[in-house]
Amino acid sequence: MEGNMDNRTSHWQHWIPVLEKELAVEMQKAPSPSEVHAKDHILRVLRRCIRLGEKLDADLEVLVAAVYLHDLGRHYIDDKAHGALSALKAEPVLERIHFPLEKREDVLHAIRVHDVSATPEDRMTLESKILYDADKVDTLGVVGVLRYIRHFYGRKPIDYVLDDIDARWKGLALDETRNLALQDYNYIKNYFTHLKEELGPDG
Ligand SMILES: [Fe+2]
Ligand SMILES: [Fe+2]
Repeated sequence: MEGNMDNRTSHWQHWIPVLEKELAVEMQKAPSPSEVHAKDHILRVLRRCIRLGEKLDADLEVLVAAVYLHDLGRHYIDDKAHGALSALKAEPVLERIHFPLEKREDVLHAIRVHDVSATPEDRMTLESKILYDADKVDTLGVVGVLRYIRHFYGRKPIDYVLDDIDARWKGLALDETRNLALQDYNYIKNYFTHLKEELGPDG
């Protein structure tokens, strides 16, 4: 692959079409694909990871692979704790695409600790922190509103949603992410606060 690489294009960008294909194959195989973790989610997380990764000088090759494969397990189990299963599913994919051997463990680590069952201390690499943050920010802003409504509305009280949003915001690993996402955080907090007021105590 290195031999005919276009000098104007960074190496990591070559993985995008490869991983895109693998994601489609894996999602087709999965028994219960989760619509809030589908390709549009992956592409938004990817955009944020690239932005944060360039700013913080992270390994974008590791990040891109981790983004595409981080939710594979989520299409098998409806559980917030799906990082370990995603890593299990990701390993043979990395093998199949001949992803650089020396970087595979970093990819799998970022995937394993991207969910809320891992503690901040568990996220030991810059790439794992960036993936965690970029993923959680997808639950804020206009898209966040849509995702919470699809996922929780009618099933959980609005206070649950408000607490969940705050927990995610406080749990972000990097100040850069908070700078990037402050508007989105304010937007979703206001939305659900107003919704709660309009619906009253039983809402
Ligand atoms: Fe996830
Ligand atoms: Fe995700």
